[in-house]
Amino acid sequence: MTNKTDRIIIFDTTLRDGEQCPGATLNIDEKLVIAKQLARLGVDIIEAGFAFASPGDFEAVSKIAKIVGTENGPVICSLARAIKADIEAAAEALKPAVKARIHTFISTSDIHLEYQLRKSRAEVLAIAEEMVAYAKSFVTDVEFSPMDAARSDPEFLYQVLERTIAAGATTVNIPDTVGYTTPSEFGAIIKGIIENVPNIDQAIISVHGHNDLGLAVANFLEAVKNGARQLECTINGIGERAGNASLEELVMALHVRRQYFNPFLGRPEESQESLTNIDTRQIYKTSRLVSNLTGMLVQPNKAIVGANAFAHESGIHQDGVLKNKLTYEIMDAQLIGLTDNQIVLGKHSGRNAFRTRLKELGFELSDTELNKAFVRFKEVADKKKDISDWDLEAIVNDEIQQAPDLFRVELVQVSCGSNARPTATVTLRTPEGEELTDAAIGTGPVDAVYKAINRVVNVPNELIEFSVQSVTAGIDALGEVTIRLRYESKVFSGHAANTDIIVASAQAYVNALNRLYSALQRQEKPEEVSAQKL
Ligand code: KIV
Ligand code: ZN
Repeated sequence: MTNKTDRIIIFDTTLRDGEQCPGATLNIDEKLVIAKQLARLGVDIIEAGFAFASPGDFEAVSKIAKIVGTENGPVICSLARAIKADIEAAAEALKPAVKARIHTFISTSDIHLEYQLRKSRAEVLAIAEEMVAYAKSFVTDVEFSPMDAARSDPEFLYQVLERTIAAGATTVNIPDTVGYTTPSEFGAIIKGIIENVPNIDQAIISVHGHNDLGLAVANFLEAVKNGARQLECTINGIGERAGNASLEELVMALHVRRQYFNPFLGRPEESQESLTNIDTRQIYKTSRLVSNLTGMLVQPNKAIVGANAFAHESGIHQDGVLKNKLTYEIMDAQLIGLTDNQIVLGKHSGRNAFRTRLKELGFELSDTELNKAFVRFKEVADKKKDISDWDLEAIVNDEIQQAPDLFRVELVQVSCGSNARPTATVTLRTPEGEELTDAAIGTGPVDAVYKAINRVVNVPNELIEFSVQSVTAGIDALGEVTIRLRYESKVFSGHAANTDIIVASAQAYVNALNRLYSALQRQEKPEEVSAQKL
């Protein structure tokens, strides 16, 4: 590959850098569900994790490599520090993948060298070169990242890139690790690399960036104009601190404005051909899946996938859109897979209709998953007359959520009102199969339910986020509850949908507690897990 490619390569790091944000921790099965959806979305490369970080990370990379890294599937990648043991773990975990990439990195900025690595430039140069060559002894596809490149001395950066490309790096990734750079500066860095690294035509230039100043997407687009051809991004922009560059924003900017970008990629301006391999109609579904499984809510005004992204509130806008959509809409909601939310199923719909509609919506469920989802569908249909596509999606996402099934909610009963003390009774089935009932009084019904659950589960924790969202309009709408709780330094999330928001609240809480409980059972002290991550 060379930088001459006229297509933008999408490298998704939701499962590696995205998963590093507090509370987004996913278990192996959830990572696999997301990886399958990323493959359907059409990403070119999935960074499945950091194999050396923990046995769980290793297993996740290995499982994704085996199940998603097929002949026609994406390249599967593992991150590795420029350390032999990391590279060996990555190579081992990636073995089942048909197309495997090792992504190795070391910092190159003086501030990182002095305070973090305590190494000289000469030492870093030698390590980078040696470790790229070592990675190359396992796989042909090697990516090298000079961490904090955007704050590195350009002359040193050029030297490191030249030597790592000579050692076998096929992609060189330029990270704005701290989200500090601005679009024109980032563009100039890429331009400088093309002009000053003699062998740069032997590698793809990639960019990676964090959103601390809200500039990550703009920086990437400027990088594309200057020769970058791989973009490292995450679904919903999740990631460390303010997150990573958001995949959906980049892809849709390149799609909607392709006539603007075409010439920078050597294409005729009028070309309608897509600049990426992404199936944009899978974007909305992927966004919802990642949000549900990570517990990281999407802000309503988030570009492309926010609840308000296609809503027109002002009278003038509504009037214009009714007369001609193009007056105030630059893209059709259907482009990202937002259907018209038609009513499709009801309580008399059978398993066949259910399966067919799910297939049309792009869900491929195993028989067991389908059976579970169908039972939930019938329960919901008993309470809610019309089941829309969005309800179906909420039901399926809920059912395929892979929170460990340790405690189970058997009963939730509340009594509350203006002159009553909110009281809750809950019955939980314990991991040993015992049914335990307890009751509590709270400041409101949800608080009472959570106190009663805590009396049964008995793991101290602090609730740090609780949110309820309605899946569709209407008094009988499904309510989706997302919660995040903290245990020591680690955050766990839970999510559930139900027509009864008190029941959904109980289920979401028990979901999060199950994740916490299972982390404790594995005797993986949560802070040790996060300390091993970057
Ligand atoms: O932000 C960063 O620099 C990274 C590197 C490991 C690429 O995530
Ligand atoms: Zn990063």
